[in-house]
Amino acid sequence: MPLISMRQLLDHGAENGYGVPAFNVNNLEQIQAIMQAAAETNSPVIMQASAGARKYAGEPFLRHLIEAAIEQYPDIPIVMHQDHGVSPAVCQASIRSGFSSVMMDGSLKEDGKTPAAYDYNVDVTRRVVDMAHAVGVSVEGELGCLGSLETGMAGEEDGVGAEGHLDHSQLLTDPEEAAQFVKATGVDALAIAIGTSHGAYKFTRPPTGDILAIDRIKEIHKRIPNTHLVMHGSSSVPQDWLKIINDYGGDMGQTYGVPVEEIVEGIKNGVRKVNIDTDLRMASTGSIRRFLAENRKEFDPRKFLGVTVKAMKEICKARYEAFGTAGNAPKIKPVSMDKMAERYKKGELNPVVK
Ligand code: G3H
Ligand code: 13P
Ligand code: ZN
Repeated sequence: MPLISMRQLLDHGAENGYGVPAFNVNNLEQIQAIMQAAAETNSPVIMQASAGARKYAGEPFLRHLIEAAIEQYPDIPIVMHQDHGVSPAVCQASIRSGFSSVMMDGSLKEDGKTPAAYDYNVDVTRRVVDMAHAVGVSVEGELGCLGSLETGMAGEEDGVGAEGHLDHSQLLTDPEEAAQFVKATGVDALAIAIGTSHGAYKFTRPPTGDILAIDRIKEIHKRIPNTHLVMHGSSSVPQDWLKIINDYGGDMGQTYGVPVEEIVEGIKNGVRKVNIDTDLRMASTGSIRRFLAENRKEFDPRKFLGVTVKAMKEICKARYEAFGTAGNAPKIKPVSMDKMAERYKKGELNPVVK
């Protein structure tokens, strides 16, 4: 099956009431884990590459790994998405290299750290929408800054996100401004700020409504029911993997993520794309630490890399099942990028916002 656009997949999710995990990919093992889990659960897939991933693996390697996944799994619809583009130029390069979806994160300036003004965000996002939709590629925008409602600190841990202290209004997307933003830009999906942040250190306690604002998702969805919402920083920080990492020589502090049942509540209220990176990193690190500690004579990397595939795959399967993604792959008939471009041109796909 050729790559499909994110808009096509999220529209299918909205029509059928499910969400799709968007897993970050940097290497072969992550891609194998995601694809094996998708094949076993019949799930459509979103794989996304960050600037860090492109720096690590190199864009041609990432692209060819994803193309290998397409060849090996012809029955699974796959979206290849660029995560957190910091400028129209970055998005343009990804569109040219064949990504079927891009994120223009204009909530931050081009340095990826400084919170940007609303007008700047509208301007850069609108420009990306114009060039992406002309070739059928989907666009995710972001309004509001990821960061902790517990501390007011922005979430720059992973090198993606604002730096320093933010006020409450920056950390929670405003529903009215979201409506204006979607109308002004024509984005296909909108990432919103509700108290999540990238990386493992999201919450110092299991989150309650004051620090993980699921109600804000409900308010935004009520205001823009036709816009697909995106939750970033949505790893659940599995406590079993945290313990394994620490039991086998690691030194991670006690920390909590976004509970799967809260994400499911989000999916009932318009969330269609759920970004997950940290959970797979933790499963990978924990399984390597345990394997090497228990197999001290082993020196074949395929052995310890092999256990990471199994560990990550179990998490992917659990998310596909929990988010309702499972079983939907065979129900999606791919629409070509040219056809998507035509539909944008005819105005059939613009979100209706009053
Ligand atoms: O957007 C955040 C992801 O976790 C990517 O992180 O920039 O280290 O690849 P990264
Ligand atoms: P996590 O760090 O919670 O996995 O979030 C990943 C993300 O939002 C990528 O854009
Ligand atoms: Zn993110």
